[in-house]
Formats: sequence, C-alpha cells, structure tokens
Amino acid sequence: MKIKMYEVRNDELDSIKKYAQAYNIEVETSQNNLDSHTVQELNGVDGVSILGRSNITPEIVDALKQAGVHFLSTRTVGFNHIDLNYAKSAGLRVCNANYPPNGVAEFTVMLMLLALRKYKPAMWRQGVNDYSLNGLLGKELGTMTVGVIGTGKIGQAVIKILGGFGCKILAYDPYPSDTVKAMAEYVSLDTLLGSSDIITLHVPLTEESRALINADSISKMKKGVVIVNASRGELTDIEALTSGIETEQIGAVAMDVFANENGIYHQSRINDIIKNRQMAYLRQFPNVVLTQHMAFYTDINTDSMVRCGISGLVDMYEGRNCECEL
Ligand code: COI
Repeated sequence: MKIKMYEVRNDELDSIKKYAQAYNIEVETSQNNLDSHTVQELNGVDGVSILGRSNITPEIVDALKQAGVHFLSTRTVGFNHIDLNYAKSAGLRVCNANYPPNGVAEFTVMLMLLALRKYKPAMWRQGVNDYSLNGLLGKELGTMTVGVIGTGKIGQAVIKILGGFGCKILAYDPYPSDTVKAMAEYVSLDTLLGSSDIITLHVPLTEESRALINADSISKMKKGVVIVNASRGELTDIEALTSGIETEQIGAVAMDVFANENGIYHQSRINDIIKNRQMAYLRQFPNVVLTQHMAFYTDINTDSMVRCGISGLVDMYEGRNCECEL
C-alpha cells in the first residue's frame, strides 16, 4: 500500500518512519496542503492523509477519486475542514484521529490560569524590569464555578483536572455522560451561561455550533466571565467577543484558536501584513490571551496523530473495521 501525507512537519518524520515500517507501507510526505494544485500530483497512491489546513471541498473529493484515491485520513480530531457528506456520497471513506485528550485539556486549564492570574500583562512588565503588582490581583481557580460546554473526551479530561482544583463544575451536552455525572452537574445551556465564572468550549464546529458564543449568549453570562476556547475559532462571534471585552461584560478571553486563522497560525508571518483585523484588535488587550492553535502540540499527541493517520488508512484499505471512520 502507498500513502501520501500532506502538511507534514519535521517533528512528525520519526513517527512516520516508525509507523510506515510497522505497517509495512510506502509513505510519501509533503509539507504542502492538499489543494487543487497538489492533488494533481497524486499517482499510484491508495490513501491520503492531511492535517487541518487542507480544505476538502467537493472539487478536491472529485479530484481524489479521479486519481484513484478512496481513503482519506485527517490527523486531527476536528473534521470541519472536510465536506464529509459529499465525500461519503462520492465513496471517499474518511477517518479522523483519536489522540489522547490530556494535552488539550492541560492547555485549556493553563489558559484559565493565565487569564485568572493576569499573566499576560505580568509577563509584559517582567520583560521591561517592571516588577510592580498593581492591577495584577488574581483570582483562584478553586473558588470558581467553571462551565464546560461539550463533555466528549476533551471536555471530560478538562473536568477531571478541574476536580483537583476543587472548582464547582457545571456541564452542558445534549448527550450527557454517566462518567461526567460523578464529577460535574449537568445543567441547561442557559443555566451554565448564567452561573459560570469561567466558560470553556469543547464542542466540534458544525452549522449548529457556529457562533455559539454570540451577543445573545454573552448577555446571559455573569459580568466579568472568563471565556476559554481551545476548540475552533468559529464557535465564537468575534465581534460579539470584542464588544464584550470593550464593555467589560467579559473579564478575560483566552483562545488557542481564531476565526479565519488558516494561513496565519502554524507559520511565521513575522514580515507579513496579516489581514485579520479582528485578531489584530483583540490581541492588544491585556485580558485577551491568544495562542497559536498549539493545545494539541505535545510529543504524545504528535506521535498518536501520525499513528492514527496511517493506521486508519491501512484499516480501511485492508477492509478491517476502522474505529475512527467518520
Ligand atoms: C485537532 O486535532 O482537531 C486540532 O485542532 C489539531 C490541529 C493540528 C488542527
């Protein structure tokens, strides 16, 4: 079997070599995205693997099928960059990755702590020998009520960690989990919005969840709420978030993701004119922490993402059950 992996970073290469040997397959790698140009290069490839930057439109699906590719894996948990309905209707089988949730969960809790302890302005000051304390009075996570929206694997891992801090935990999910019931209280979305000091998002991006955090939902929140997002930027309406910061209805925002981050995040754009006005404006606030979509980025996860990306393709190709097939 031969597969081609796109969006490959150097830190993935050792794992790719290891799993190519373990599964006895040939792997070609490219740092490029899979797009209308690179899809033309495919020749004699049985399966293709991508990360989150390749946008799998109906045109790309058609081009893959035309090139004889019937299997696609995304080495990500999220799959909003793939037109899954079209892929299915065209007979392109797709799987995602089920890397462990702890890396993202730990990062999420770190974002909460950074926001609560005002670490962004503290770090600015430290860098210019300003060791003053005024304006940096923090809050303790253990005294907070944290609302977790989405209690899948990552939401559950966040809840588990938060349990150690002693916070009160509220949860919202249309499909409640018995494991979570032992650690958190399921409530309606409106109750969670109105009762939480910190709200963290762990839902996939779908048409239903797009702009879940908007002017209306923000108006239901407690004044001074902290909003944390390590899921997808489009879950928040950035204009509404910005107004919330300006009016001080929102006390802090800490986000690892941003709407329209594609083409910006995971690249050095140090000498470029970046055309994302919303990001540039929000970035300047002392109580807004933005990180470069790196919550997933740990040694354990990168290895697991490569393993899932390869093993999923091999399972589908060899007619075995692929537990990550979408
Ligand atoms: C995911 O796995 O869904 C991520 O957000 C990781 C990133 C490489 C796109």
